[in-house]
Amino acid sequence: MTNNTISIDQIHLAVQERYGRIASGFQTGCCAADAGADYVEECGCGAELYDVDVSQLPADVTGLSLGCGDPIAIASLEPGQTVLDLGSGGGIDCFLAAERVGPTGHVIGVDMTPAMLEKANRNKAKVGVDHVEFRQGQIEALPVDAASVDVIISNCVINLSPDKTAVFQEAFRVLKPGGRLAVSDMVTRGQFTPQERADMSAWAGCITGAEDVADMAAWMRDAGFGQVSIQKKGDDAVELADVPPHVGPAEIFSARITAVKPNTAV
Ligand SMILES: C[S@@+](CC[C@H](N)C(=O)[O-])C[C@H]1O[C@@H](n2cnc3c(N)ncnc32)[C@H](O)[C@@H]1O
Repeated sequence: MTNNTISIDQIHLAVQERYGRIASGFQTGCCAADAGADYVEECGCGAELYDVDVSQLPADVTGLSLGCGDPIAIASLEPGQTVLDLGSGGGIDCFLAAERVGPTGHVIGVDMTPAMLEKANRNKAKVGVDHVEFRQGQIEALPVDAASVDVIISNCVINLSPDKTAVFQEAFRVLKPGGRLAVSDMVTRGQFTPQERADMSAWAGCITGAEDVADMAAWMRDAGFGQVSIQKKGDDAVELADVPPHVGPAEIFSARITAVKPNTAV
């Protein structure tokens, strides 16, 4: 999934450096903002991305919204559920999930960037919730028990991973049978070139780590997921999970990705 010159560790480091700077206030954080003018129109970030109401959250939370969609709008969360947010950042989706699952539920945010976790914990104190916790870890090796989660959410993070196969295998492992994946992320039709992928600024800016929808669907199915669906944000008429791989330059867009761990799975 990476090219021959950039290692998984190098990608993790570049991503961690970028989001560490953003969390510490040394860099503005909009997806792709420093990834090159060619890409900037393709994604945006901020509280305006949300279909659900975020006005109740403190400005420190909504001001560090780095996603590319609204996973809460497709997660159908219910009171009492356990929710896991892959790449929780400043915590916006964790706090929105916490409202929906209520105090009988539990929300876990996992992020690998220490400064982001510190920011998320400061935000947690401002929001004043007890049933949200933030754990340091990589989404390719989740610090979460097997079969312990009802719903996994994620917002503009899986595209950053250099090992998406491992991400979906780990997501499958930690979900309970019948558990669901509800993700907003950047995906493509077509492939970035090895040269484009080697641009760590564009990768860390949520652009050139994005993969073709056909590959994403195949990796989810290989991990064991059923009912895999990938739809372009704002266009739910076209199901992209069943289209063949696209040959040609990458066209990038924000998508809504959902899947289910079958009830019969262990
Ligand atoms: C684009 S930001 C999105 C943050 C948050 N989901 C939001 O919507 O505001 C990406 C976040 O994912 C984290 N991240 C990226 N790759 C990761 C990985 N492989 N494992 C764990 N965290 C990761 C980064 O540290 C960063 O906080």
